[in-house]
Amino acid sequence: MCGIVGIVGRNSVAPQLVDALKRLEYRGYDSAGVATLDKGRLNRRRAEGKLINLENMLQQDPLDGTVGIGHTRWATHGAPTQNNAHPHFGDGVAVVHNGIIENFSEIKETLISEGVHFTTQTDTEVIAQLLASLLRQGKTTHQAMQQIMQRLKGAYALAVLFANDANQIICARNGPPLAIGHGDGEMYLGSDAIALSPFTDDITYLDDGDWAVITRDSAEIFDDQGRRVERPRSKASSAYAQVEKGNHRHFMEKEIYEQPEVISHTLAHYVDFSNGTIRKLPDEIDFASIESLKIAACGSAFYAGQIGKGWLERYARLPVEIDVASEFRYREMPLPGNQAALFVSQSGETADTLASLRYCKENGLPIGTIVNVRESTMARESDVVFQTLAGPEIGVASTKALTCQMAVFAALSISAGMARGVLDANQEKAMVRALSEAPRIANSVLNLIQPQMESLSRELSKYNHVLYLGRGSNYTLALEGALKLKEISYIHAEGYAAGELKHGPIALIDENMPVIVIAPHDRYFEKTVSNMQEVSARGGRIIFITDEDGAKACKLETMATIVLPNVDEFIMPLIFMLPIQLLAYHTAVFMGTDVDQPRNLAKSVTVE
Ligand code: M6R
Repeated sequence: MCGIVGIVGRNSVAPQLVDALKRLEYRGYDSAGVATLDKGRLNRRRAEGKLINLENMLQQDPLDGTVGIGHTRWATHGAPTQNNAHPHFGDGVAVVHNGIIENFSEIKETLISEGVHFTTQTDTEVIAQLLASLLRQGKTTHQAMQQIMQRLKGAYALAVLFANDANQIICARNGPPLAIGHGDGEMYLGSDAIALSPFTDDITYLDDGDWAVITRDSAEIFDDQGRRVERPRSKASSAYAQVEKGNHRHFMEKEIYEQPEVISHTLAHYVDFSNGTIRKLPDEIDFASIESLKIAACGSAFYAGQIGKGWLERYARLPVEIDVASEFRYREMPLPGNQAALFVSQSGETADTLASLRYCKENGLPIGTIVNVRESTMARESDVVFQTLAGPEIGVASTKALTCQMAVFAALSISAGMARGVLDANQEKAMVRALSEAPRIANSVLNLIQPQMESLSRELSKYNHVLYLGRGSNYTLALEGALKLKEISYIHAEGYAAGELKHGPIALIDENMPVIVIAPHDRYFEKTVSNMQEVSARGGRIIFITDEDGAKACKLETMATIVLPNVDEFIMPLIFMLPIQLLAYHTAVFMGTDVDQPRNLAKSVTVE
């Protein structure tokens, strides 16, 4: 989490730094700050809360200087106060940092015993103070940088200003990504290329362990052994240059309504609709011969993986083991035999997912990633990238990225099913036909249910607790529904497998806890209706999300019934995700929360 930027420019850089930070606010928005070097002096402005507070502060009290660094924070160590906001200072040193310094207490104690005075509760201040201490001992800036990289444990992307060198920024990467942007007589750095998109699309990514000296005309990069190295330059995707809300109130709303289009783009990448076939996939993962597949991901991406597991097992008879990446990475599981690993991530930077990927890589598994950000670390470290073409997702709540991940899984399942001889050409055609219908149906469903979702949300916002139930893929939708509702409306919500109701959660049922049941008329329908009976018999209030056949077949009284058109069972999870998203969205809007930047969260979770 946290976003960092730096500019070695020709004019006053503070406004440009703020512009770049705006594009990184999705990484954290607890506080923000910038520091510049002006006539050999380090100056800074820092503000608690959203970036707009820093912007206002800078308008009243501008900052000069043609070299500067900036930061938007997601607090780890120390409350999100102005004093804990970056940049942090040591004597003649200013630092911005994304990540966590795990051995900061030990370094801090040593420095305190040497007489250094700390002014914040952050782990980052030790970096600034340690650098300052090394400079006092007579080290050069380069020697100091190299030395701290040996000393710091944990994850970091850093940018450092040294008061004794007015023409450079030194940056370093160990874990979180860092992009250097090449301009015309100006150079930039940022946590990702999006931050630099107003200035340049000519990007060099640092490798883990690299550090670099950035001046107006060049970037000199060194590896972890201090050897001068060259890293490739590439063009950043133009998709990230301009991201606006358009006529929508929130990015989340815009992203929900973009789904028909981006699902269609994503599917078209993998499916040849005119022939009714799946396009040939890269052969780094041999789906025909692998005995099993491991999947790891976090949050909503994990739920996409869980839907994918269902499809791959059912349609390709491929055994799949899936785990949340924060558990996966530490399980020390043996990985024998002929398997592959697949990771799912919008950002491609999620720390736990990346660590799981590296674990599987070290164990020799072929690595695939379903990822939205093409230039991300996961994409670069994978053998094969299955890109989602969702475009930039700005709202913290994942919507279009998730359904595009599911679209990729749908295509992979057909492809794997064909490769393994489980599906025949007719089945492939029928499944491709069903997929081809998904964008059109998604569009009509979004328009159809919107008014009902708005009024139902008003009702839902009166409750403090909500239970979501479903079976099969609808169980995963129940989990995702609960995640979405709690994340943006702050209403407590749980998702349960409907069959588990009587093993505990039924004790919670009363008129104060609405139960949202997701049950299209599929092979689980009758069983789920029995669970609804159990809820109803105990005075529970049901919001029933079903299809036309389900609505006809179920005679139970409900608080509300949301009826979607009947659709092919294969694409049901894609279509039934939509009411779940809209319900959470409108409830949050009605409750007046900060929908796109909900409290305590960040879009890209680059710490564990
Ligand atoms: O960038 P990733 O897809 O790896 O992010 C994973 C989760 O952090 C993310 O899906 C999170 O759960 C969303 N906020 C859910 O809406």
